[in-house]
Amino acid sequence: MQPFELLLNQQKLARRITELGEQITIDYARQTPVLLGVLKGCVVFLADLMRSISLPVEVEFVSAASYRNGRDQDDDVLFGGALPISLKARHVLIIEGVVDTGRTVSMILKQLAAQEPASVEIVTLLDKPASHRVGLEIKYKGFTIGNEFVIGYGLDNTQLYRNLPFIGKMIDR
Ligand code: IMP
Ligand code: MG
Repeated sequence: MQPFELLLNQQKLARRITELGEQITIDYARQTPVLLGVLKGCVVFLADLMRSISLPVEVEFVSAASYRNGRDQDDDVLFGGALPISLKARHVLIIEGVVDTGRTVSMILKQLAAQEPASVEIVTLLDKPASHRVGLEIKYKGFTIGNEFVIGYGLDNTQLYRNLPFIGKMIDR
């Protein structure tokens, strides 16, 4: 077990995710948005967020990974398969656990554009703006954090710790 310290507790996460869901409910009134989760880091956040949205929604997933193992950043993003359904004329919300360099989300945005969705917005539980390496507009973010490596709530270090019910920050980076 590598050392980590608590960054965001369960209560803070729950409160903020409820707020995000309420905001999305207002912003997408009378729509049926598609929540497009980016596996695997989105899973816990998406499960909470979708239950905070009081609208009909569809849920789809894409698989992407930019950190293949551990904390080392890899330059290319692995993208798993084609997009699941036609998103033409749909309102799409890309759901991410954390945006770091922004490459993953920006690659997904590019792929989506070809399908001519009605709108696309990014929803991320955590954003690391100091690490962005591409320009991004993130409409919905849970928390802004520094350039630190975090685990829990779906986020891993070498595929572990996703099941922690809070966000921890790895120490001794
Ligand atoms: P980006 O393409 O650099 O924005 O990376 C986003 C992806 O990197 C996320 O979907 C995560 O899988 C992973 N990632 C980035 N930062 C962290 C972190 O602090 N903890 C765990 N995974 C991270
Ligand atoms: Mg990872």
